[in-house]
Amino acid sequence: MIAIGNDHTGYALKKAIIEYLEERNIAYKDFGCGDITSSDYPEYAHEVGKAIQNKECELGILICGTGIGISIAANKMKGIRAALCHDCFSAEATRLHNDANVLALGARVVGIGHAIKIVDTFLNTDFSQNERHIRRIQMLEE
Ligand code: RB5
Repeated sequence: MIAIGNDHTGYALKKAIIEYLEERNIAYKDFGCGDITSSDYPEYAHEVGKAIQNKECELGILICGTGIGISIAANKMKGIRAALCHDCFSAEATRLHNDANVLALGARVVGIGHAIKIVDTFLNTDFSQNERHIRRIQMLEE
């Protein structure tokens, strides 16, 4: 199950990502927001983060204007590793090396077509299970 959340700036991109998920029968839970009325990105970061912490969802996607605020908010939560990625190389590397469990996107930074490719890369890359990466990820929690 994929958790998805966004502020008002991310609403249009969220809808495109949901279309991508539905076309592929990928289960998701939408934590809002549900329109373009001004909203506070930490609220959605916290909802998506909680869904991952309580194992309701395995991975999350968070969107704000830059992707920065919403990733900062998510990364303050225990066990959340949110990666702000605006290219496919980073999206792949953060799954392989960091076992990132949240992809953050800036809707004002990337176009929808590019963002979908980044989402596709993130969702289709597994953690490497490499010992050195496991050790480093454990160090993040210390
Ligand atoms: C909203 O104007 C904007 O500040 C927010 O979407 C995000 O970019 C914050 O980091």
